[in-house]
Amino acid sequence: MALLSRVVLLGALLSPFVSALPANSTTSPYVHPANGDCVDYTIVTKLTTENLKWILPKVENNFDVAKIAMGMARSDSAEKFNPTSGPTNETKEYTISATYCSPKKEQKGRESTVMVMTHGGGYDSRYWNPSYQPEKYSFSWYALEQGYSIFVYDRLGVGRSQIVSGYEVQASMQIELLASMIKNLRAGKTSNTKPVSRIIGVGHSLGSFVTNAAIAKYPDLVEGTPPTVVGAWLLTIFGSRIAKTVDPSFPQDSGYLAFSDIIPHTTTFFYSDPLDPSSPPLNIPTIEYAQGITQPIGLLESFSFRNLSLAAGEFKGPVFILSGAEDLLNCDGDCEKVYAEGGQDQVWAGTKPETYVLPNAGHGTVFAETAQEMFGEMVGFVQRHFE
Ligand SMILES: *[C@@H]1O[C@H](CO)[C@@H](O)[C@H](O)[C@H]1NC(C)=O
Ligand SMILES: *[C@@H]1O[C@H](CO)[C@@H](O)[C@H](O)[C@H]1NC(C)=O
Ligand SMILES: *[C@@H]1O[C@H](CO)[C@@H](O)[C@H](O)[C@H]1NC(C)=O
Repeated sequence: MALLSRVVLLGALLSPFVSALPANSTTSPYVHPANGDCVDYTIVTKLTTENLKWILPKVENNFDVAKIAMGMARSDSAEKFNPTSGPTNETKEYTISATYCSPKKEQKGRESTVMVMTHGGGYDSRYWNPSYQPEKYSFSWYALEQGYSIFVYDRLGVGRSQIVSGYEVQASMQIELLASMIKNLRAGKTSNTKPVSRIIGVGHSLGSFVTNAAIAKYPDLVEGTPPTVVGAWLLTIFGSRIAKTVDPSFPQDSGYLAFSDIIPHTTTFFYSDPLDPSSPPLNIPTIEYAQGITQPIGLLESFSFRNLSLAAGEFKGPVFILSGAEDLLNCDGDCEKVYAEGGQDQVWAGTKPETYVLPNAGHGTVFAETAQEMFGEMVGFVQRHFE
């Protein structure tokens, strides 16, 4: 029961608090990995989703943000602090920016397996596809190098996808959008070359919640899934602010919040231990790059992840759950212990999830010095089960 209750509990703490300074495409462009043949897609989807409504007045300044943070941080927040009503069904059209790449060098027919990657809160697709030292930090690069195809996209509300209000964007939309994009992929509508024979759902943090919840609802959606972490936010160490007050170039409205600066981002996503001489030093240029690609997260979205149904007992495929060993947001700094409690077996009761902790890494595993090791584990998992 541990992780299940933990997921629910941590889900309840999901806070709106991510992002950063010069986060624009001028400084950190969206690039195609050089080892892939890539096509960009603008995907327009009409969806009916069960949506919550934001019932508080819109925030006007960062003191309003502080008041919401107080309510959300309470241990009894789920019962006592719910700034939403509903749900009700709503039908709307959404536009998502996505990129599909097939490998330049094909190997063993692996190109018909597509890694569908959903980034977490605080980033966009560049989390999976960084232009900075891609041979070291890009999982897209790694997967293509191994012969797989990849599909990355910006979640609704961030990056190059449609920027809907932070008082509207929410989990139900992200989940149905992912499910719909995977169906399009299988139908060959958004893959530039080969027929797609297998989908591997890859998620980070909030993106793992989206992937997990989509599989819980549609157990046939994917063949396998390695969510890298199922995480949450430690409210007290996030300096959340209205995104526009951090960087006026953010196009999002006042319903989107960002990290106040690079330090809360470092604390929550990276790892170094000043008392342990064997722990890695902080790699500041890498953190600065990561800071440059951060994105805000919507207020309603943060609350909407609290009551998500993650129990995916009908899914029978292989599941791989990974975290940085020292991840604060996911595991209070000790993921080995959290996985030993075995709660992941309750969430994925129809299969036997495998777990892995990445040494010397925090929450932002792709930017850890050990990232290559994790990429090898993720791809090794796919090969073990499907080759
Ligand atoms: C979530 O569940 C709690 C009780 O567990 C309930 O009080 C709250 O209204 C729910 N929130 C939403 C957004 O449905
Ligand atoms: C939304 O529509 C679906 C499908 O018609 C229905 O099953 C569900 O109960 C509706 N939800 C609400 C909150 O009305
Ligand atoms: C993007 O960032 C650069 C460097 O921080 C800055 O000079 C430029 O004005 C920014 N662009 C926009 C559109 O804000």
